[in-house]
Amino acid sequence: MNDDVEARIEEAIKNPQNLGEMADADAVGTVGSADCGDMLRMWLKFKEQDGKKVIDRASFQSFGCQTAIAVASVATQLLAGKTEAEAKAMSGEELAAPLGALPPVRIHCAQLVEGALRAALTGEKSEQPSGSDTLLGKLNATPSAKVKVVLNKKS
Ligand code: FES
Repeated sequence: MNDDVEARIEEAIKNPQNLGEMADADAVGTVGSADCGDMLRMWLKFKEQDGKKVIDRASFQSFGCQTAIAVASVATQLLAGKTEAEAKAMSGEELAAPLGALPPVRIHCAQLVEGALRAALTGEKSEQPSGSDTLLGKLNATPSAKVKVVLNKKS
């Protein structure tokens, strides 16, 4: 991974922004990656601004790798002020843009964040395993449950 991208990811991990459950959220989306087993949940709060409905705040929790956490941290900052249509149009690459170009093996980490955003915007549940016997299924079944964030060392 390019040193600049690595440094920005490390910085975002040291001080993740908008981390945590949002009690008064208007929307929540959860996704899980079947490939790596990581999960991410995103909350959105909307407000009216100049006659338009825009994202006021976004927050996240993750059982994920450092890259996914770093992308979620910068993405939730980017989303403030976006309309629903603008947010829906954002790709994982755009959501991760403040970190720089991610290496190919990390693209799916940004796509996890994109997936959680889309799930929140559309009200869709993850297409990944969602039976009540899976962790994701349990989290989806109990949206108010606390999700412990674990920052692991894999990157
Ligand atoms: S989201 Fe699975 S390794 Fe990054």
